[in-house]
Formats: sequence, C-alpha cells, structure tokens
Amino acid sequence: MTSTSIRPSTVTAVAHPNIALIKYWGKRDEEYILPCSDSLSITLDIYPTTTTVWTHDGAADQLTINGVPADGGALRRVEQFLELVRARAQRPERLVVETVNTVPTGAGLASSASGFAALALAATRVYGLDIQDVTLSALARRGSGSASRSVYGGFSIWHAGTGRGAAGDSGSYAEPIDAAVDLALVVAVVETAAKPISSREAMSRTVRTSPLFRAWVESSRLDLAAMRAALRRGDLDTIGEIAERNALGMHATMLAARPAVRYLSQASLTVLDRVAELRRAGVGAYATVDAGPNVKVICAKAAADAVATALRELTVTREVIVAGPGPGARITAEEPR
Ligand code: DP6
Repeated sequence: MTSTSIRPSTVTAVAHPNIALIKYWGKRDEEYILPCSDSLSITLDIYPTTTTVWTHDGAADQLTINGVPADGGALRRVEQFLELVRARAQRPERLVVETVNTVPTGAGLASSASGFAALALAATRVYGLDIQDVTLSALARRGSGSASRSVYGGFSIWHAGTGRGAAGDSGSYAEPIDAAVDLALVVAVVETAAKPISSREAMSRTVRTSPLFRAWVESSRLDLAAMRAALRRGDLDTIGEIAERNALGMHATMLAARPAVRYLSQASLTVLDRVAELRRAGVGAYATVDAGPNVKVICAKAAADAVATALRELTVTREVIVAGPGPGARITAEEPR
C-alpha cells in the first residue's frame, strides 16, 4: 500500500443521536449494511458523542469508551470500520480512539448512530480524507446503519438504494430534508440497562423469520410518502400519527419473529397509555419506541413542558428529557501532534 505523509494530528468530532420517525428495521445486505427500506429521522440536541482520534505506532487500534478500554465486540466493530477508512485513504497507521457517550450505551437510545457518525468524521479527517455529506453518510452507514442519518442536523432521509454488496454501497446514504415544523421530542427513560438482544441480531432474526416482515416493508414505504407530505405541510398531528403507527408496526414485525423479539416493557406500555390519554385530553402527543423500552414522545415545542410534566408524574419514568432538533456531525478540534 502506498501512502503519502500526512501531518500527524489529533482530531475531535461530535455527533448527536437521531430518532427515526420512519424506522430502519431490516437489512438486505448485512455486510454492507444496506437496508430493505428508506427511513427518516430527526437528529437531537441531547446526548452528544465526542470522539477523539490520533494515529499511533502500535500494531492495533485502541478504543476507550467513557474512559474504559474496550475489547471484544465493540473493539472489533470499530476496527472493521477503521479498516474501511484506511483502505479508502491508503493509510496503514492504526488509531487510538477515545469516545465519550453521554447517552446510556445499548439502551435503545441510539449511541451507535452518534458514535459512528463522530468516528467516521474524525477518522476520515485524521487520515487526510476530505469526504463529506452523502459520501460521509454512506461511510458512516458501514459502522451502523442509523449513523448515516446523524451526519446531518435536523431531519434527514436515508435512501435505501438498490443492489447488494459493493454495487449497492454508494447509493445508500442519507441527505437532509426540510420540514416546516417546530417539533420537540420528550424522551421518557424507563430503563438504562443494556438491552437483552442487540438491535443488529434482532433485525437479522426479524428479516429471516418474521412472517410479517414483507408487510412491514410495504407499509413503511407508504408511511414514508405520507410522512414527507406531512412534513412539507408542517402538519404535526399527521407527522405524529404516522410516526407512532410506523414504530408500532416495527415492533409488530419483531414480535412475530421466531423466537419473538420484545423490546417494549410494561413501563413502555404505561408511557404509551399516558400518551394516548394526553391525546384524548386534546394534547397533540405521539410516541415512538426503538430497540429498547424507552419511549420518545413527539409533540409541538410549545407543548413539550406540559408533556414532560405528565410523564414525570408516572412512577415508571426515571428521567424525562425535552429534546429538540440538533446539529449535524462536526469537527470541534484539530491540533498538530
Ligand atoms: C430501531 O442502526 O443500530 O433504532 O445498522 O445494525 O448498526 P445496525 O443497526 P442500528 O439500528 C437502529 C434501529 C432503530 C430504528 C432506526 O433508528 O431507524
């Protein structure tokens, strides 16, 4: 491998998690992380991941997460991702990666999305690769599918693209979209322990065994078209209704997997009931749930405090945080070594 010299530097990047209003659930290609359907999300202004990287003389990549050296699966996943970046940059050096998550890792609050968006940006920069936007998004996707969307602030759509393997790689990326809404997401944390089954494994099992999977892909396609129109109109109630039904459809397809995958807990259902009650009382609040029991409630910014107060009154909630649209991934420091 040939490599020109780069000026050694330490690069820090920050990225935020995103919450899908139209979910990504199911891959057509597991190695290349190519999804079966388009998805659409909003990047939040809470729980940033900060990742600092530099090259070193060692023979292997090193990773710490929140100050703790990582090994096993987490390290392998980062190494595999960095191999892709090195191949593209034609650089041989290994990296030291220090990542700090402010979100509970593995609890269905999308730490892999912010994590790989920040890593993709920091690593490409430290290896002297100048890639951005859709190219950066497609690369971040190889670390974790949802990371493709955390490259951007606000709303973004991840186009599934077509084809498999290398042929499908560059056509599967996210891009930002405009929306005319002042929306808030109220995050109701009911559990912070790591999930019993990783979303990666659960997704794979769903595709292989759920008899409802095809129907989910088809209904999600219709949901996406309706969601885009509602976002253009700034029609918050329709946005919320579609997001809620899409999330429940995703949980339905995984509940039908064999064996069943169940992320919704008693506490999640209690929050969902409360959200339905709020609606009956005239508050435009709608719920979405990812690969974990925590519930995110979509509502108008003006209603967020009232929604948060109602959710805090529930004994099942440990923490309730009001989030809004957040920024895209960005470099926050770059210093010569
Ligand atoms: C339920 O992006 O974590 O949050 O691509 O296997 O890393 P991998 O999966 P990941 O899955 C996220 C699934 C979801 C829905 C979504 O964010 O669209």
